[in-house]
Amino acid sequence: MTYETILTEQKGRVLLITLNRPKALNALNTQLSHELIDALTKADDDDGVGCIVITGSQKAFAAGADIKEMQNQSYMDMHGTDFFGQWDKVATLRKPTIAAVSGYALGGGCELAMMCDFILCSDSARFGQPEIKLGVMPGMGGSQRLTRLIGQAKAMEMCFTGRMMDAEEAERAGLVSRVIPADDLLDEALKTADTIANMALPALMSIRDAIRRTQEMPLTEGVRFERRVFHALFATDDQKEGMAAFVEKREPQFTHK
Ligand code: HXC
Repeated sequence: MTYETILTEQKGRVLLITLNRPKALNALNTQLSHELIDALTKADDDDGVGCIVITGSQKAFAAGADIKEMQNQSYMDMHGTDFFGQWDKVATLRKPTIAAVSGYALGGGCELAMMCDFILCSDSARFGQPEIKLGVMPGMGGSQRLTRLIGQAKAMEMCFTGRMMDAEEAERAGLVSRVIPADDLLDEALKTADTIANMALPALMSIRDAIRRTQEMPLTEGVRFERRVFHALFATDDQKEGMAAFVEKREPQFTHK
């Protein structure tokens, strides 16, 4: 598949995907969603990729779903095609995924960032769910993920008013893991991704599984799940290597990356 709305670049074991519809501030149209999901699915199956970074431009990570594309759709157009249903794939990838956000991450842009495992943002980032101003509501998981990440009070206020949150507030609220000066964001995201990409993949996937279950399981079940998966990691070569490397005072050479 030839991509027209995204750029992909492999850097070592990291795949960098740049959303690239600059004239529309990276608005997420159907073509972009197909191309992005195709690239992500291939990366997920590629042993040479250990971590994925999704980014946009300095001005916009993505200014939302493409309003011009949705404007004249009917209920049956949306329901009949399960519009936005394809985006669920992003949240079920097995490879760790980081959103590196500068500028606007609005509506579907904010929702795409939240589907990633975590968000690193620059000091220019602006997050919001402005769908209410269009007479609709979040449709790519925003009402659910934003609430889980920042709590009901802030999620309600953001979704009711459509106001934007700046980077500092987003960090305080727990929406992003770190704020980085705009010029350094991509380098820092790639460095973080490279660190992750060289960790033991079975352990990474188990950690991700366990953390994601916090949203779906009661605490006692989550703790039990964590313990069982922790036990299972003792069946991996990487556990033997990681612990031997510590005892021998050297860097581990993981085989399952
Ligand atoms: C389509 C968009 C777009 C979008 C921007 N553009 N956002 N096109 N869909 N979501 C286009 C503009 O039409 C314009 O194209 C060009 O990008 C530059 O945008 P401007 O508005 O001129 O830029 P600026 O004045 O800097 O304002 C930036 C902005 C504003 C504040 C981000 O563009 C904006 O408010 N965009 C919409 C944000 C939004 O409502 N997102 C949520 C979408 S709904 P032209 O050709 O006119 O120059 C959603 C979920 C839907 O995501 C779920 C429910 C179904």
